[in-house]
Amino acid sequence: MVSRIIPVAPFDLVIFGGTGDLAQRKILPALFRRHCAGQLPGSERIIGAARAGLSCADYRNIVATALREHCGPRAVDDAELTSFLSRVSYVALDGMGSQGWEELAAQLRPSAEVPVRLFYFSVGPALFAPLAERLHSHGLTNGDTRIVVEKPFGRDLQTAKALNRTLASHFDEGQIYRIDHYLGKETVQNLMAVRFGNMLFEPLWNSQYVDHIQITVAETVGIEGREDYYERSGAMRDMMQNHLMQLLCLIAMEPPAKFDPDAVRDEKLKVIRALDPVEPHHIVRGQYQARQADEGGAQAHPSYRNTVGNPRSRTESYVALKAHISNWRWAGTPFYLRTGKRLVARSSVINVMFKDAPHSIFGAEAGRHANHLKIRLQPNEGITLSVTIKEPGQGGMRLIDVPLDMSFAEALGSEGGTPPDAYERLIMDVVRGDQTLFMRGDEVEAAWAWTDPIIAGWEARGDVPKPYDSGSTGPGDADLLMRRDGREWRGINP
Ligand code: BG6
Repeated sequence: MVSRIIPVAPFDLVIFGGTGDLAQRKILPALFRRHCAGQLPGSERIIGAARAGLSCADYRNIVATALREHCGPRAVDDAELTSFLSRVSYVALDGMGSQGWEELAAQLRPSAEVPVRLFYFSVGPALFAPLAERLHSHGLTNGDTRIVVEKPFGRDLQTAKALNRTLASHFDEGQIYRIDHYLGKETVQNLMAVRFGNMLFEPLWNSQYVDHIQITVAETVGIEGREDYYERSGAMRDMMQNHLMQLLCLIAMEPPAKFDPDAVRDEKLKVIRALDPVEPHHIVRGQYQARQADEGGAQAHPSYRNTVGNPRSRTESYVALKAHISNWRWAGTPFYLRTGKRLVARSSVINVMFKDAPHSIFGAEAGRHANHLKIRLQPNEGITLSVTIKEPGQGGMRLIDVPLDMSFAEALGSEGGTPPDAYERLIMDVVRGDQTLFMRGDEVEAAWAWTDPIIAGWEARGDVPKPYDSGSTGPGDADLLMRRDGREWRGINP
């Protein structure tokens, strides 16, 4: 088989926030895995930058510990680790002041030697402007410099615009890589392959044939030590405005003329701009309650309010809503989106629910049957198409629905069984200079423009989220949202 690993060009990568949680859990493990896969050129430099006064050896120890913890101790081969660490160094640097910048400049190689220079802003947005200014004033940028910025990209339209302006005063849009890690998930990219690589689905992909679409991102985890951030964000800002919005775009967009950054992002932007404002009675917010340990092995969890230490918190840990896209393709087909923490299972799934056949030749007693395409994003990635067949045996023409199931892991063997982490793909795309899977500034702003009035409405009404049991499928009102339309959520299964 031809190798699928295409080595990238030599690069210098500076991780601002190099000692932080994201660097330790995601960025460094992703780089290490790409190193082990043989994709890194061998001459790369990875420079951690943070305030702490650490030596290079101290930092390498931190990185080694992080890799053992987050790649799994057995996945870390000592020889690979040693060779990876030899490319890692550290600079103690003050992002708001002057300390450390000369040292950083000294560690970067001249652009003529290594043109690809990446700065990963793995820091709070308050540091974006000071870092960008200092990169310029110390002459550390060139035309081939790329910066990577993480969510949250603002907390509303106004702050997102301000961030975009700040970055735009220092960098061209083509240099700015705004990460939404959902776009780096192998199966999320597969959405585009399934839709635009097959003749089978696209002719049916519209309101004439699709009754409705359900997008579910269910998590079993809680807020994982991020009380301050989450209490100010909630599920709407943390998940809906970005990850679910991106899934909605990929499912609903028109075919781009080609798989290139602006062609894809233009189509996604059109979807966001075509979204109608959401009616208040088309949204359900929820907040999880405590759970007792039980004999079945379920662990005890404190309630959301206890976790954040705010007995009157009105932040939602769950949100479900009905969205409409006002364009020719989708007028009349609702999109139901839901996401929440501490739910019954971890499961990200898109269900495309087709309409009933226009007329049943089998009569009313055959019941109602409709096709349904289920795209499992995680875990257990794959696609199931349910088709209606005759129930085998005697007894007349009885119909049942059976799945045509395609698990990617089974179909693709071990290569398909362990999809790379989203960060591996995305960081390599930054090195390659491919922005297709990154959000453009106007996309982020359009997503906030849709989200802002929803949140403003809650605040104006003093809306209190509905309680739901940890380990459940969410608040009962979310079921009503569907039932009022004569529909039902699909189950949340691992
Ligand atoms: C992050 C959110 O962006 O995505 C978290 O801030 C959430 O709250 C996480 O848990 C979910 O990502 P994944 O890859 O585990 O589905």
